[in-house]
Amino acid sequence: MASSRLDGAVALVTGASSGIGAAAARRLAALGARLFVAGRDAERLGAVARAVNGTALTCDLTEPGAATELAALVLETAGRVDVLVNNAGQGWAGALTAMDDADITRLITVNLTAPVSLTRAVLPGMLARGRGHLGFVGSIAGRLGVREEAVYSAAKAGLTVFADSLRQETAGTGIVVTELVPAVVDTAFFATRGRPYQRSSPQPVPPDRAADALLGAMLRGRHEAYLPRWMYLPVALRATLPRTYRRLAARFG
Ligand SMILES: NC(=O)c1ccc[n+]([C@@H]2O[C@H](COP(=O)([O-])OP(=O)(O)OC[C@H]3O[C@@H](n4cnc5c(N)ncnc54)[C@H](OP(=O)(O)O)[C@@H]3O)[C@@H](O)[C@H]2O)c1
Repeated sequence: MASSRLDGAVALVTGASSGIGAAAARRLAALGARLFVAGRDAERLGAVARAVNGTALTCDLTEPGAATELAALVLETAGRVDVLVNNAGQGWAGALTAMDDADITRLITVNLTAPVSLTRAVLPGMLARGRGHLGFVGSIAGRLGVREEAVYSAAKAGLTVFADSLRQETAGTGIVVTELVPAVVDTAFFATRGRPYQRSSPQPVPPDRAADALLGAMLRGRHEAYLPRWMYLPVALRATLPRTYRRLAARFG
């Protein structure tokens, strides 16, 4: 899909009841897509669905089989998914020892297993049609690792490598795999995880900017988009001069 319009394309956005997902749904609707929006909070999700003239599908992606059922429902209703935005996610701030097995499973399921299952479910149709957009909302935490966010960082790192591998697997098929790598976005994410964002840099950006960065990169066929763009620098430093990066990370966090 080289066009910058998505008229008639069927788009499924997870985590659309809030923040980046709600903004992505609005942006996709403005581009002409037919929206299916998923989230847990029926009231907030319903408001987004009405605003984008879309269909609300309430589900908890940590429930066994929920991701596959969600994809099946959209495929049954619309016949296809042209754009999948794997955005639903949750953070966790605190020591690993403060987590129990259920916390760990929940975090890995919503941030990694559910996107893998959803992608698995919509991929055959995209391959058969020779086109499709697979979007992933990762995190800078998955590129660098963040203190007291070990499981969240690991899940997002898994998502990055999943997207990278899938990009290779689908090369030449007409499918575009794009990952947004945000640093800090002004959403409910921090309140939900139970610890506010306390650093002075990078500054939080509005969710609309995150949605624009993801969808802009997707429509241009780009593999990834850092937000802000300069967040690529610590990632490059870590890859090229790991000891220097670790010294700086230990000092500045
Ligand atoms: N905000 C940031 O600074 C930041 C930075 C890097 C990456 N990210 C990533 O950006 C993505 C979107 O987060 P956001 O910042 O927009 O936060 P948000 O406003 O809290 O939105 C999170 C969305 O995910 C949904 N969700 C969470 N757990 C779910 C579950 N078990 N089943 C189904 N849906 C679930 C929420 O649904 P309900 O509200 O209906 O429960 C909500 O729609 C996440 O993947 C997050 O990891 C955010």
